[in-house]
Amino acid sequence: MSSTPLQRFAGRMFARSTDNDAPQTEKALRHVAIIMDGNGRWAKGKGLTRLKGHREGVEAARRAVRVAKELNLSHITLYSFSTENWNRPDWEVEHLMNLLRQFFEKDLKDLSEEGVRVRIIGDRETLPKDIQTLVEDAEARTQSHNGYTLQIAFNYGGRDELVRAVGRLAAEAKAGRLDPKAIDEAMISQSLDTGDAPDPDLIIRTSGEQRISNFLLWQAAYSEFVFLDCYWPDFNRDHFMAAVDQYQGRTRRFGARPEDQ
Ligand code: IPE
Ligand code: IPE
Ligand code: MG
Repeated sequence: MSSTPLQRFAGRMFARSTDNDAPQTEKALRHVAIIMDGNGRWAKGKGLTRLKGHREGVEAARRAVRVAKELNLSHITLYSFSTENWNRPDWEVEHLMNLLRQFFEKDLKDLSEEGVRVRIIGDRETLPKDIQTLVEDAEARTQSHNGYTLQIAFNYGGRDELVRAVGRLAAEAKAGRLDPKAIDEAMISQSLDTGDAPDPDLIIRTSGEQRISNFLLWQAAYSEFVFLDCYWPDFNRDHFMAAVDQYQGRTRRFGARPEDQ
């Protein structure tokens, strides 16, 4: 099978991950999750409206999806709208909803043809009905694809996701279908919106802020974090590769002792 130069580069970079199966040196990069922050400040710095910032942010997201695919990642997750983002002015919320609608209209066909599986994580019940339909349609159309998954975190909050999962498990227990003693970490992971997706190996946040803002709280238990100073609309392949490079320089220990001590 032919591979692109970037894939060969990535293959060399990640070659060490197969050299040693010990979990503390695991370096395989399967899942990258991104907190796409700084659209508003990018726009302000250029004398533009926040809306223009969000539109350019969608372009940056398209770039990130392409690079992730070239890197042979199995999953990329993009934090697009948090459960706290409802606290923004109505016109901004409406614009962000419209960008999701447009994304489904413009990008879904191409993504589907490229074999990308699309999943939306977050509370969809409280989204406008037409978006719920678009979400269901996007997932149904791409569910048989198994090469590469794009997860869009929309109306997503890590705490909200846990509340909904715990509620479902409690209902099962109450109905007598689940023994509470059978609840373990794997079952909780499986009950989350991310289901059987691997936990993110690397979480990137742009804009210079260094916080998690309610993103993948359970799944990020052992993720590596890279914080970049650039605003999201400027994020390009070089930034992505620089973040991957930082990740490659880290030692993942998962609580075990380092290899050489
Ligand atoms: C990220 O950019 C997009 C969303 C959170 C929806 P922001 O809109 O948060 O931009 P800043 O952080 O205000 O610059
Ligand atoms: C996090 O960015 C949410 C998304 C990128 C969708 P915010 O801009 O909402 O986060 P805070 O308010 O700076 O923590
Ligand atoms: Mg922000």
